[in-house]
Amino acid sequence: MKKKEPAITREDVVRTLVGQRRPAVCPAGSAFAPSNIALCKYWGKRDEELNLPVTSSLSIALENLGSEITLKPCTKWDRISLNGKLLASDTTFVQRATAFLDLFRPAPDFFFDMRAKNSIPTAAGLASSASGFAALTLALNELFGWKLNRRALSILARLGSGSACRSLYGGFVEWHAGAARNGMDSYAEPLDAVWPDLRLGLLLLSEKEKPIGSRHAMQQTRATSPLYAAWPAQVERDLAALKTAIRNRDFAALGRTAEANALAMHATMIAARPAILYWLPSSLAAMRKIHQIREEGVKVFFTMDAGPNLKLLFLRKEQALLTAAFPELRVVTPFGR
Ligand code: PMV
Repeated sequence: MKKKEPAITREDVVRTLVGQRRPAVCPAGSAFAPSNIALCKYWGKRDEELNLPVTSSLSIALENLGSEITLKPCTKWDRISLNGKLLASDTTFVQRATAFLDLFRPAPDFFFDMRAKNSIPTAAGLASSASGFAALTLALNELFGWKLNRRALSILARLGSGSACRSLYGGFVEWHAGAARNGMDSYAEPLDAVWPDLRLGLLLLSEKEKPIGSRHAMQQTRATSPLYAAWPAQVERDLAALKTAIRNRDFAALGRTAEANALAMHATMIAARPAILYWLPSSLAAMRKIHQIREEGVKVFFTMDAGPNLKLLFLRKEQALLTAAFPELRVVTPFGR
């Protein structure tokens, strides 16, 4: 019988990428990373420890909405603040940040003063963990003077949260699923494309923390949803369709595919046992309103993540009409104005 190979840990990956580099601790490391919204979703891990995905995915960065993090060495214990407020050690935010920082301490008695500023609501399905772990990885690279390239940083950010590997770049970004057990081929890369007229509208319907986090929700979907088996092949088709739409600047194809992909992802979770349903009555009302506006001839589509909020996709020429229809819409210009 073939002997089972030992599992690869996050510590192993960190050793491979930064083990040889002697940390030259600087007084501080600071970085910003944008949030990202997937047009073709990542839903399901093939490796829980390393956040290796079942499929590739494709996202768009939210320009200047994201996380800014400053790291300094600190004595006695970690000091972690968010938007100017010092957080207690039993908060989810501190626990996730500390578990990530643990991977990089040069000595057990090395502590961090971490100051995070989020320009988007934390944990409301607006991808604040993606920008947070990406900014934290970049700040660590500065603090310790590793001088790692973006591919290595993307791999490290993935260890914090899968979608964080896509937040190292602006614009359209593809995360290659990869096939290696150690995940060294599972990283993100930007697409060589700009689309200045493209707009993303954030429709914030609830800022409450989600009832079930994406890690647990993905596990439950993969383990129990009869629809999950169809997901990987659909992602492959949607990813190809999105790349073609981006290449041809075919907005209708982009919007149609992104919306269908998001709904297919939600269908896999709704069919999980027990069901995972992030939608609120206001989410469904917004979807219906978008469909109605579309029937009137306006090209507008939506996507949704692990939360009740919607993200609208449209072009510059429809902006006035859509902000009138959705006065609370926060418009993002992914490629600048
Ligand atoms: O990276 P995580 O664990 O926060 O998962 C992200 C999952 C989705 O936002 C629903 C999809 C995606 O590709 O961003």
